[in-house]
Amino acid sequence: MIPQKTVQEILETAKVQEVVEDYVSLRRRGVNLIGLCPFHNEKTPSFTVSPAKNLFKCFGCGKGGDPARFLMEHENLSFPEALKQLAKKYRIEIEEVKMTPEMAAEQAERESLFIVNEFARSFFQDQLLNTDVGKSVGLSYFKARGFREETIKKFGLGFAPNDRDAFIKKATQIGYKPEYLQRLGLAKNGRDFFWNRVMFSIHNLTGKPIAFAGRILQKDVKAPKYINSPETEIYTKSKILYGAYFAKRDIRKQDECILVEGYTDVISLHQAGIENVVASSGTSLTEGQILLIKRFTPNIKILYDGDAAGIKAALRGLDLVLEKDMNVKVVLLPDGEDPDSYLQKVGATAFKDYIDKEAKDFILFKTDLLLSDVGGDPVKRAGLVHDIVDSIARVPDPFKRSFYVKECARIMELEEQVLISETNKVVKKILQKREFDRNRKRPGQVHIVPEDSPPPGEQPLPDTNVRPIQPAQKELSQDEFQERDIARLLIAFGGEIFDPEDEITVAEYILSNIEEVLEDFDNPQYQGIVKECLERVVAKQPLSPRYFIGHQNHELSALSIDLLHSPYEYSPGWEKRELYLHSQKMPDDNFSKDSISALLRFKLKKIMRLCEKNQQQLKGLNAKDDVQKMMRLLKVQAKLNEMRNELAKQLGTVVLK
Ligand code: GTP
Ligand code: MN
Repeated sequence: MIPQKTVQEILETAKVQEVVEDYVSLRRRGVNLIGLCPFHNEKTPSFTVSPAKNLFKCFGCGKGGDPARFLMEHENLSFPEALKQLAKKYRIEIEEVKMTPEMAAEQAERESLFIVNEFARSFFQDQLLNTDVGKSVGLSYFKARGFREETIKKFGLGFAPNDRDAFIKKATQIGYKPEYLQRLGLAKNGRDFFWNRVMFSIHNLTGKPIAFAGRILQKDVKAPKYINSPETEIYTKSKILYGAYFAKRDIRKQDECILVEGYTDVISLHQAGIENVVASSGTSLTEGQILLIKRFTPNIKILYDGDAAGIKAALRGLDLVLEKDMNVKVVLLPDGEDPDSYLQKVGATAFKDYIDKEAKDFILFKTDLLLSDVGGDPVKRAGLVHDIVDSIARVPDPFKRSFYVKECARIMELEEQVLISETNKVVKKILQKREFDRNRKRPGQVHIVPEDSPPPGEQPLPDTNVRPIQPAQKELSQDEFQERDIARLLIAFGGEIFDPEDEITVAEYILSNIEEVLEDFDNPQYQGIVKECLERVVAKQPLSPRYFIGHQNHELSALSIDLLHSPYEYSPGWEKRELYLHSQKMPDDNFSKDSISALLRFKLKKIMRLCEKNQQQLKGLNAKDDVQKMMRLLKVQAKLNEMRNELAKQLGTVVLK
């Protein structure tokens, strides 16, 4: 535990610029620094660091905060871990507050286990790289598989020699307690657990080796191909994905996780520059593993070996992924190939093209696959419905569900209505089962559902209470305020370059972000301006203030002059939240930033409006209305709240409750 005063000292000492620059190259832009955001994929920098405020902020993905937050996000650290790292960087000594003896003992135990595993990793590596037998047997094996030396080191590959006690001898000689070797599964009955195998380290998310796998070298031996460390205090199989430590950054960046089966697949793809890869290690995905992926992305792409034998069984396991509201795509590799072999065969570029091109939505893929099995037989075809419906019903998002119903009905040449009613039956069953499970967990308790609580089986939805709605009239005029701002930016700066490095103009930036809500404008005049800009941009005609001032439509011309010349201010509410403000006299490059925040504010307003509408619909529901409708509205509400909070976050305002 770090004492509060040290926490303070660390936070006051750490400079955001220095911390960020360890990972991102920044260049100066006015009082701030900008660079390419490490949290999402971008070509033009929207990641901003403000030394004055000691904060970072990405206008693209919305991530932002202080130096500690940067490390937490970037290195996937807890707050105390981030503080420790900062303390190390700034040479601040942490005098840990005394823990209870039990806590201290427990922590010391865990630490010891990590230390012993780290020793084991270096032992196996040393055997591989620096002994004759290691080099001739192990290293040449890895090299024959195309692994480069830096890859071998990065992934902690190694070699366990043929003697049955080489490791134990060395470890005890150095002073590691035999008890620990036993507990980590490195020793068994006084002998080495791993011998005569090439070794793979299994890392946790902070990169520490927590377990090992050993692969046999000779073919046709009766022994299993791989043996793995048993579960220990520091290794829970069901919560670990092989390669996650090396993949997490790229998974975030690509907003997608590629899932393969084997250790060697991960290493091979990684080496070829495809870094967002993890392996399930041959078993079907567990809930813990799915949640681990979900921390980084909701999108998962599963690569299956070409020999289709096990695929159908594997597909069944995927319903669990659907339940977690993940988007699942599957890729079938050519017959007889696994990711490693196929990559080696065709090279990285062709491999990437293949998996992009061949990726199919899981449910549609499953439908196609099952359908191809039954051929034209109508009875068998009907039997399929249950199988498909079973998957669709697990998708929590009702909108996605209805998409699948439509698509599958089309593929299976069925009436949509049939599929809808079948799906609803299964949804109901699933909800009932969850309700049943819930009640069973709390025996003797009478289950009363309060009138305004979410329907049974649904997880509690986050933050469904929107703050009190302002009177409709005021809301309207405030909306107009945002619309006016956008019109003003378009007239004043529409033709300016949005970003010096970027080819696009302010108008192009705003318009590309606004087209979808254009019809939602309240004020027809402002809407007219936006539409006119859109037409001109599409026709590649220039935009300038002069064009609008001299517009043949007098009303528009007058409005433009008004917008360009009448100074106005934001309402005090916005100011208090430290929004980026502008006045008539702006520093030259501020219109880009202004455009970004004007858009965000505009969208926020629209979302708030939708929230209100939805809330009223919810309130209007009476007991007789069906659960489906209520679920739908609650889901919409949760989505809207999520969008609202995201926008508020990007604006740097407090999250509205
Ligand atoms: P190579 O055959 O060397 O390419 O290995 P691989 O990693 O591609 O293995 P394979 O495709 O045969 O199996 C996929 C994954 O399943 C492996 O990476 C292991 O995690 C796991 N696995 C395979 N065989 C065994 C075994 O005999 N025992 C255990 N515990 N796991 C295995
Ligand atoms: Mn393989």
